[in-house]
Amino acid sequence: MTALAVLTAAGSGVRLGCDGPKALAVVAGRTVLDRAAEGLAAAGVSALVVTAPESELERFRSVLPGHVPSRPEVPVVLVAGGASRQASVAAGLEAVPEAAELAGVELGEDTPVLVHDAARCLTPPEVVGRVVAAVEAGSVAVVPGIPVTDTLKEVERAGTSAPEGGSVLRVVGTPSRSRLRAVQTPQGFRWAVLLRAHEHGRALALQESTAATDDAALVEALGLPVDLVEGDRRSLKITTRSDLLLAEMLLGPDPD
Ligand code: CTP
Ligand code: MG
Repeated sequence: MTALAVLTAAGSGVRLGCDGPKALAVVAGRTVLDRAAEGLAAAGVSALVVTAPESELERFRSVLPGHVPSRPEVPVVLVAGGASRQASVAAGLEAVPEAAELAGVELGEDTPVLVHDAARCLTPPEVVGRVVAAVEAGSVAVVPGIPVTDTLKEVERAGTSAPEGGSVLRVVGTPSRSRLRAVQTPQGFRWAVLLRAHEHGRALALQESTAATDDAALVEALGLPVDLVEGDRRSLKITTRSDLLLAEMLLGPDPD
């Protein structure tokens, strides 16, 4: 496999509510950041660009000192992230050529480049492998996804208020569950397509409220096809305290 990755870790982790950024939260003895970077390297990714909150660059460097800790051959370039995840990915893309050069990888238009959330630090290497293999086999953009277990409703504001406060929403549709997938990361792209998608969607990145929550949506906006491969429930995104507990349970009593 020859693939490069942007690992997004510049969020503040408001919903997790711990002291400091979510990427530095500890899951069963190791930081989310360390686990996520090691996971990509173990799957065969050649080099990483990691987005960090600007004020945390030094602490991030102490976890990832220029390379993945257990794999000195996998360089890590740290960059300051932006105001939204999309802006962070865009900042990360600017450093991909440097990361490729450090790893001795020739970066061509079709080279697979992944975008992965550090918050999905338990992603199994097989998922990374499936995504890269699909790009290598000709897909323009690939997302891992899993069936949804809840029934999902599409809603609109109904304009009425519930007696105890809070608003009542009107259900306007029930998409068939068999046609839905919950998508995860890493998402994989041909390098030139990922660059073009971010360039095209640049204006959305300024605020969290308009920014794309996943990179594949930016490719869809270009009118290009996005393919889906099987994801994995272990790729959960650590968002709240209960996700952190679940991640520790999945790792088992003695993970290391
Ligand atoms: N992220 C980023 N830059 C941002 C916002 C998010 O690089 N400006 C990254 C996060 O670090 C995370 C991934 O994008 O790995 C998914 O974001 P999310 O789960 O929302 O993490 P946070 O934004 O940190 O959490 P919260 O929304 O609860 O503050
Ligand atoms: Mg967020």
